[in-house]
Amino acid sequence: MTTIIRGGTVVNADRAFRADVLCYGDKIVAVGTNLDAPASATVIDAGGQYVMPGGIDPHTHMNLPFMGTVTADDFFTGTAAGLAGGTTTIIDFVIPSPQQSLLEAYRTWRGWAQKAAGDYSFHVAITWWADSVHEEMGTLVRNHGVNSFKHFMAYKNAIMADDETLVKSFRRSLELGAIPTVHAENGELVYQLQQDLLKQGLTGPSSHPLSRPPAVEAEAANRAIAIANVLNTPLYIVHVSCKESLDAITRARAGGQRVYGEALAGHLIIDDSVYQNPDFDFAAGHVMSPPFRGKEHQTALWHGLQGGNLHTTATDHCTFCAEQKAAGRNDFSKIPNGCGGVEDRMAVIWDAGVNSGRLTPSEFVRVTSANAAQIFNIYPRKGVIAVGSDADIVVWDPEASRTISAKTQFAKGGFNVFEGRTVRGIPSATLAAGKLAFHKGELMAKEGAGRHVDRPAFTPVSAR
Ligand code: URP
Ligand code: ZN
Ligand code: ZN
Ligand code: ZN
Repeated sequence: MTTIIRGGTVVNADRAFRADVLCYGDKIVAVGTNLDAPASATVIDAGGQYVMPGGIDPHTHMNLPFMGTVTADDFFTGTAAGLAGGTTTIIDFVIPSPQQSLLEAYRTWRGWAQKAAGDYSFHVAITWWADSVHEEMGTLVRNHGVNSFKHFMAYKNAIMADDETLVKSFRRSLELGAIPTVHAENGELVYQLQQDLLKQGLTGPSSHPLSRPPAVEAEAANRAIAIANVLNTPLYIVHVSCKESLDAITRARAGGQRVYGEALAGHLIIDDSVYQNPDFDFAAGHVMSPPFRGKEHQTALWHGLQGGNLHTTATDHCTFCAEQKAAGRNDFSKIPNGCGGVEDRMAVIWDAGVNSGRLTPSEFVRVTSANAAQIFNIYPRKGVIAVGSDADIVVWDPEASRTISAKTQFAKGGFNVFEGRTVRGIPSATLAAGKLAFHKGELMAKEGAGRHVDRPAFTPVSAR
């Protein structure tokens, strides 16, 4: 199976250059000008277009059982939607219930992911602590291609990790050559603020952001950074949504700490006015944590990406339909938290980032694939157009445009936080493991075609 992409401009994180790209099987086998290809090869004309590494979304939740329900997108529909938008790899989350075996949960998620159409990998959440958790973290790293562990500092009475769990798990991660990651929000404060608001009769979605102000996020970001500093571990902070958290990362990095930050496409584009909409379905459709913020925070997040203190862009794709969101009609704290975006991330970041001059095309590649591949140790298999890399490629038409709508999206849930936004710069073709999965608006994603991506540990300090 040979494919040649002819006449485009290859964009990698380090440079852009005119070249053809030849793929054989699931790999890129040649990159250069005027390449020969067998007569039987599929030819993709990339004249006037960019040829970039397929997007890596390092933060999705497909098939997630959460807040009493299960997300609308499973691993097939979610990864297929990603392929339509130029994202060829997701890193999702295994989230064991407290007291549940990590390995048992890992096997459950691997089972659900069998139907994925694109490649996938897993962070594993540490939601409780015992000697058995310490042991199973080792097994996951050594035998199952896991090199990152997630800690929810929010969601009290559910999956929240307390400080003891954070400290023990960060220390264990370091020992194993894995990277700890955190959802930074002070779960105790969120819980108390929710109770205060409900007692005052403020039960609607407009209370959601009031229960999770920036200081609640910043406290947790600072605490996680302090713990990582004391233990000398690296740290990756997911969905950084506010200036105060970014400032904490910037300070830590200036002091020599290896702290990485992730920005969500939604947080970069959408502001908190959505929660004032009187239509419950609309406001609840935007309920996610951390919430959308005031415009000054979006400006700060763009500066973080431009200045190199934020490293990756993700979506936290976690879709619920209106009927599911309605569980919180009389109590905002019961609205299932989560929004979509895996289909739209690349285009909205190109449109708002590259078209505006905030990012160069190479910087776009850096924040949509290359940095995630490096931080989570799958580079150069992913995140670069180079000989030997996976043939995960997006052919990007910078002049074509699309108006985003839930009516025309492939993702489930019937809602889109980017509804009505017209973006210029969209994929004309997506190649996943050498196979054409999306071409000129047509989705050819195949259930089960995705593969689990093992992510090797970084060399443990003790082994150096
Ligand atoms: O609201 C969100 N973000 N839902 C998904 C779970 C999480 O916190 O990432
Ligand atoms: Zn395995
Ligand atoms: Zn989160
Ligand atoms: Zn999440």
